[in-house]
Amino acid sequence: MNTLFCELLLKWNKKSNHRPMPWKGEKDPYKIWLSEIILQQTRVEQGWAYYERFVKQYPTVQKLAVAKDKDVFKLWEGLGYYNRCKNLLFTARHIASNLDGIFPKDYEALLLLKGVGPYTAAAIASFAYNLPHAVVDGNVFRVFARYFGIPTATDSKEGLKIFNAIAFENLAKKQAGMYNQALMDFGATMCKPMSPLCSKCLMQSSCVAFNENSVGQLPYKAKVIQKKKRYFDFLCLIAGDKWFIQQRTARDIWAGLYQFYVVENEKLIPAQEHYFKEVLSNQLLINKEVDKIEVVKKEFQQQLTHQLLSLRFTKIYLKTIPAALEKGKWVKMKTLIKYPFPKTIIDFLSQEGYLD
Ligand code: ADE
Repeated sequence: MNTLFCELLLKWNKKSNHRPMPWKGEKDPYKIWLSEIILQQTRVEQGWAYYERFVKQYPTVQKLAVAKDKDVFKLWEGLGYYNRCKNLLFTARHIASNLDGIFPKDYEALLLLKGVGPYTAAAIASFAYNLPHAVVDGNVFRVFARYFGIPTATDSKEGLKIFNAIAFENLAKKQAGMYNQALMDFGATMCKPMSPLCSKCLMQSSCVAFNENSVGQLPYKAKVIQKKKRYFDFLCLIAGDKWFIQQRTARDIWAGLYQFYVVENEKLIPAQEHYFKEVLSNQLLINKEVDKIEVVKKEFQQQLTHQLLSLRFTKIYLKTIPAALEKGKWVKMKTLIKYPFPKTIIDFLSQEGYLD
């Protein structure tokens, strides 16, 4: 039996949901999985082009499984949170080698895949196989918190239990795929975080938050994330037409991506020549090779989910390639741009005119 909420949502979907997206109605679990992983990273508008590039370059899970890490990271470039990209590759290879290239066909088996949590498993199970699993994400929390007037924090154990129960209770069990997509679309286009379209909403008269005038207060979150501050000094070592780059290997942000030599400090150190010379001498044994030091980008900030980065780029022109710099390589700009970099480095290269 459908609830009133479910009926209204399906009615809205049929009459008023005009939201074309390339993955909508897709039945191939591989493509659905790809779209969901990309959409965990970015908004629909930006994710759209990434999705189309991935599907074009790697139309099947087998094709993705045999891709080179470097090429996949390059395609992922700009989406951030590279662990997701690593998991994407790991899972594609796992499916190709251990599951005969066939995607798991039920929720529990999908959940066993690396990088696939309850939300993604429910999305794949419902979109690909129309199985009765409800998606619960930020959009869904918001819609339910408002419509049912739930003041419980969405990031608490109790909240998760309540919202999961509501989600399952209201799910259109026989049309789970269509219902889940409709719910996401409704959250994104009608019941938006800011300026929701209540005056045009067919749920208005039965929406608790609307009737109690608490739309702006819901959903409620308990924790305020404390962001860790980090200070990165990128030293672009340049000798003739070659630049020094290194791959980030630690379990940290941007793992697997490339970067210039970086110094991480506890605080911002004034950009004085003697500071850079000291770093070059102490950490890299570079002394007499230094020709010119040019701070090209005054420090600026980048917000990540849990970190606040302070970044600075400095070009260090060298007369010759210094002996034995560890763990990196010297490459020409033409080759350099083929490597995957964090978005902030691509932005820097672009602003400096290297990508024109
Ligand atoms: N966000 C996550 N998955 C989505 C989907 N399938 N459609 C729209 N937005 C989404």
